[in-house]
Amino acid sequence: MVSREELLSRDYERTRRIGRSKGREFALVLTTESLRDAHRRKWGGSGGDVAVYRAPGRITLMGEHTDYTGGLALPVALDLACFVTRSKNASGELRVVSENNGEERRWPISALPVVRPMQDWSDYIVGVAKELFRAGYAVEPANLRVQATVPVGAGLGSSAALTVATALALLDGRSMEPLELIRLCRRAENRFVGVPCGVMDPYVAVKAEAGTMLALDCRTLENRTALWPEEVAIYAVDSMVRREWGRSAYRQRVAECAAAEAALGVPSLREATLAQVATLPEELQGRARHVVTENARVQAFQAARTAAERGEICYASHASLRDDYAASCPGLDTLVELARGIEGVYGARMTGGGFGGCTVNLVDSAAAPQFEEAIREGFAKAFGVEPGVYRVAPSAGAGPQL
Ligand code: GLA
Repeated sequence: MVSREELLSRDYERTRRIGRSKGREFALVLTTESLRDAHRRKWGGSGGDVAVYRAPGRITLMGEHTDYTGGLALPVALDLACFVTRSKNASGELRVVSENNGEERRWPISALPVVRPMQDWSDYIVGVAKELFRAGYAVEPANLRVQATVPVGAGLGSSAALTVATALALLDGRSMEPLELIRLCRRAENRFVGVPCGVMDPYVAVKAEAGTMLALDCRTLENRTALWPEEVAIYAVDSMVRREWGRSAYRQRVAECAAAEAALGVPSLREATLAQVATLPEELQGRARHVVTENARVQAFQAARTAAERGEICYASHASLRDDYAASCPGLDTLVELARGIEGVYGARMTGGGFGGCTVNLVDSAAAPQFEEAIREGFAKAFGVEPGVYRVAPSAGAGPQL
């Protein structure tokens, strides 16, 4: 096994295979220099005037839909990330271009506090700017360029990667306590974007350490990291399903949990027992049962001694998300069932908010090539769509890139 130091020194961002096109894999090389060059081509400027900030996406090994009820989660930061480059301008405006969709927005700095949500990607930028104002940080005129290698809306924490990288770019070297940064990014999404998400994604995007999984207690906001064994490959497999109503379904789950807490008279579902859950009205029982059993699965996953044990816990988590939490969909269920039938796979489950997006798969490293082929072929046959297959490496948290 490689040492922690060796893992920390690896530069995971240099080359990322980001997908396949017409059956061929293609590589996207995102070096700090190439990001600076692209920024200058768009916004002009020269020399060392372009700062580069990176924030990673995340995959949850265990503990899904537990963060907004003070629960336990075990996320990992990805080597798929969002990069925001920044240079000053003298226009009095905040200008931003997104490489991912080619769109551009400009706002006079003085107008930012009164901008209304547009229901698109730019809400994340404005939401962060507004929260910075509220926290007493001036937002200076700047040119930003956003480029993400983490697939957008796929359950891999692309929103938090964008808010955290944006916050760092707007702070541009001014320091902020990590917990304040995490809370600020969550508020930007809760208040301005309008998604009542929990703390897990910005937390791991800020605090992760390379080569490790992060055990997060969402009640105390304390964490512990543990080395992830290299011999177990982590795969994100994208069902390519994206649902418009995913957001409203997420909101509904958050509301159902709040209703269960109110009915039980507990401050959060973290304090609830299965015996109490059994007293809830029928429609809330499954939701609360998922949360209570998922918290227990996080502890079991940490205590497990073998990859096979961990894998079984993954399958149990998926069943709970599918049957009790109703957060899965046929594409995700198919991916999990296909994975179960492939040699060398320890376990699989949906990850992120659900209703589409990705599964997380734990695979024996030695069986990785066969897994990639089998899951691609199997899904294409069953669904007529080629899935996105990403082997991900636990990476470090957000920061400037030199
Ligand atoms: C989304 C949210 C997170 C978390 C997950 C589900 O990613 O942003 O806060 O609730 O869904 O575990």
